[in-house]
Amino acid sequence: MPEVALLEIENFDHLLRTTRSVRRNLDLQRPIERSVLLDCIDNAVQAPTGLAGENWRFVVVDERQAKNQLALLYGEVLTTLLEQRGMDMKPTHNALLNNLPEMPALIFVCAPCRVRGSTQDTAAEVAYYGSILPAAWSLMLSLRVRGIGATWTTLLSARQSEVAEIVQMPDDHCHLVMLPVGYTKNARLKPADRKPADEVTYFNQWPGM
Ligand SMILES: Cc1cc2nc3c(=O)[nH]c(=O)nc-3n(C[C@H](O)[C@H](O)[C@H](O)COP(=O)(O)O)c2cc1C
Repeated sequence: MPEVALLEIENFDHLLRTTRSVRRNLDLQRPIERSVLLDCIDNAVQAPTGLAGENWRFVVVDERQAKNQLALLYGEVLTTLLEQRGMDMKPTHNALLNNLPEMPALIFVCAPCRVRGSTQDTAAEVAYYGSILPAAWSLMLSLRVRGIGATWTTLLSARQSEVAEIVQMPDDHCHLVMLPVGYTKNARLKPADRKPADEVTYFNQWPGM
């Protein structure tokens, strides 16, 4: 196996800069083999993990009935949120909502639920989320290099107990991210319009303090 430095940096840069949400341009008829998903999850579990250590769990939903139920729930949360904010449904969000039951798989990245203390404990929060979210991002990158698109979604986290009931997850576990996944079809993934590094990076001192 070549070391990272010997691998083509351009390919890594391209991967990191073009791993975008894919809600449309998906081949919903093409199943994703479970072995492919497990390979991606094997990459994900190489992510850093804090003291609780490897407490991540991944629930892959590829059965139609459960996907239907989850799509209904997702639609409820999305509609309520848009109403509350007085916003219209974007075509991309509508596409994802409509595609959800047809998605080859919905992957929930789970961990024991975070129990908030009475005082704000930033270090504990950081350790908790920092121990699970890198794995979710590694998973999304691993899917992408295999031609599988995903969207980082958290809307369903507002309905933890209903999701837990559908996937039979124990009460003391929560999902932090749900990735609806499918092979991409004619998807043109481009870098996002983000501020460049030199605008958001300070060396040694935060300016103006
Ligand atoms: C914390 C977080 C939560 C998100 N939740 C959702 C979601 O529930 N549904 C959704 O369609 N997109 C969700 N997104 C995706 C963003 O909307 C998406 O990143 C944004 O559309 C920008 O597109 P890009 O990922 O292609 O740059 C979420 C992203 C983040 C980082």
